[in-house]
Amino acid sequence: MKHLLGIENLNRDQIMNILETAVSFDEINQRQIKKVPTLKGKTIINFFAEPSTRTRMSFEVAEKRLSADTYNIAVSGSAIEKGETLADTALNLQAMQPDALIIRHAVSGTPHLLAEVMDCSIINAGDGFREHPTQALLDAYTIWQKKGKLEGLRIALLGDIYHSRVARSNIYLLTKMGCDVVISGPATMIPKEVEKLGVTVEKRPVDAVKDADAVMMLRVQNERASNLLYPDVREYAKFFCLTPELLKHAKPDAIVMHPGPANRGVEIDDTVMDGERSVVLKQVANGVSVRMAVLYLLLGGSEK
Ligand code: CP
Repeated sequence: MKHLLGIENLNRDQIMNILETAVSFDEINQRQIKKVPTLKGKTIINFFAEPSTRTRMSFEVAEKRLSADTYNIAVSGSAIEKGETLADTALNLQAMQPDALIIRHAVSGTPHLLAEVMDCSIINAGDGFREHPTQALLDAYTIWQKKGKLEGLRIALLGDIYHSRVARSNIYLLTKMGCDVVISGPATMIPKEVEKLGVTVEKRPVDAVKDADAVMMLRVQNERASNLLYPDVREYAKFFCLTPELLKHAKPDAIVMHPGPANRGVEIDDTVMDGERSVVLKQVANGVSVRMAVLYLLLGGSEK
């Protein structure tokens, strides 16, 4: 593997290899000194053309813990503001001979375009509606860590599936790994023919949550919708918010997940978000180990 552009084209062995490699980095992240020389001398550019807290920071933490030299560029303050195209920007960055470029962009397919014009490894940190592969990998890692397996688990994905690159990458990954994936959300937020991806669609969230091993809430992405896709926030919350009452229908040991950032009180109730079954902050912690594993595997570090 040279690039990580999405989960769609990965196979089970490649996914499992990343998850198993992340275990070693988890151990490093528990140490007092969390730094190893694995990627010493490698140059990594983080290019986030959309807002991010978790992904941007955890990539940077992962890179620094692996001793890579890391640089950040944003649209604001770059020559893109003067009209330079993304492809020209990429060629100029390539001239500085980086080993990898991490890209987040609002336009689906941008990482694929950069992989065409640049020689370095490209890692997709979220492109438009399309994919967010490292999020799905860290989600799968968290489920695997908590449940000891992926095969045969029932995973409920609830909320704005249509606009969610997290949902798309998770659907690809979890179905490949043998999970039973059930989705539910307002009809306007369910992609047409999504069943072709191997998921079951339930109209009522309660039917999706029933006997689930993990319930993953997705953020209502108002910034990506051209029109409001539900009448008002209170109505959305009434039917689709993960409340303690709704969670009672899942298995007693079901875990609660959210990729963040969360709209508290809209798609997830405070008591559930902060409750003992929530693994939301564990997902964030695991994001560092999983991104260290991806960087190690793509950049061919000499030491583990
Ligand atoms: N989960 C996620 O992508 O969060 P950020 O937008 O903060 O990176």
